Amino acid sequence: MKTRITELFGIEHPIIQGGMQWVGRAELVSAVSNAGGLGILTGLTQPTPEDLSKEIARTKGMTDKPFAVNLTILPTLRPVPYQEYADVIAESGVKIVETAGRSPEPYMPTFKAAGIKVIHKCTSVRHSVKAEAVGCDAVSVDGFECAGHPGEDDIPGLILLPCTADKISVPFVASGGFGDARGLVAALALGADGINMGSRFMCTKEAPIHDNVKQAMVNADERNTQLTNRTLRNTSRVFKNAIADKVIEIEREKGADLKIEDLAEYLSGQRGKVVFEDGNVDHGIWSAGMIVGLINDVPSCADLVSRIVAEAEDIIGKRLANLTGTAA
Ligand SMILES: Cc1cc2nc3c(=O)[nH]c(=O)nc-3n(C[C@H](O)[C@H](O)[C@H](O)COP(=O)(O)O)c2cc1C
Repeated sequence: MKTRITELFGIEHPIIQGGMQWVGRAELVSAVSNAGGLGILTGLTQPTPEDLSKEIARTKGMTDKPFAVNLTILPTLRPVPYQEYADVIAESGVKIVETAGRSPEPYMPTFKAAGIKVIHKCTSVRHSVKAEAVGCDAVSVDGFECAGHPGEDDIPGLILLPCTADKISVPFVASGGFGDARGLVAALALGADGINMGSRFMCTKEAPIHDNVKQAMVNADERNTQLTNRTLRNTSRVFKNAIADKVIEIEREKGADLKIEDLAEYLSGQRGKVVFEDGNVDHGIWSAGMIVGLINDVPSCADLVSRIVAEAEDIIGKRLANLTGTAA
């Protein structure tokens, strides 16, 4: 399946594994890239730019296929040396960067000077238009269904994707709520050039997280996510658990008086890290998308990618072709 995205990134299949804090390490990234998709290392999972440089080298030792690095630019309690992370990526020889959060504009000169292609993750049409204007080579369009930060507009992919297709010219992938062949075909029909998946890739053999987390996602249905931090206008879609319940309860109680300090104890990223390491799924907040309702197994990345592509070709070549009377 050739699309503008497979051509742009030099990959076999139009399937990307989005950056995931604590999850996007060399094991998963190399497995996705070896499967013919695009694996993405999560830059800030590495505590320092030097550690990221080592993780990039480790990934290179595990795959000779293209892979990318995610740089998530968000306000944080402790300042992050973003330019140093960008410099390390540029010097490493990695040729694709996924940016997310704030506009990547300040770092574009660094990336472009190193011949890096930039794909920026956006949750609205206006942000996709801006990303194209500042020189991004592609966009990843994250609908309301997605794990992590869906933005504040609450527009699901069914509307967001074709609206974006009508407004930008660079290639884009559909993100948020994708996990199987039906999703891939739908994304292509809506104007996207491929799909980006987070939650689905957490439930693979190579994802470096505790089996209890994968099993909780397999057991979950489509109602098992919650939106936290709505009151702070920094909405997060997370797996429904005791801590997410607690955060939402505090948000309701405090209403307009809510301050970030009221939630800090529960929102700590370190708690989420412990969930992935120890497998106590109620220990902290961790991102997951509505697609958990369609995740029923824990395959290898190679099996997952080849299954999605084979079934998508089947849907296009048989089911849809039968409808139009063009089946071979
Ligand atoms: C556990 C987890 C951590 C994530 N961390 C990040 C991150 O650090 N930066 C980022 O840009 N996106 C992050 N995401 C979002 C994914 O890259 C992707 O956009 C999202 O998962 C797509 O929705 P889906 O889960 O329905 O496939 C994360 C997602 C998950 C599930």
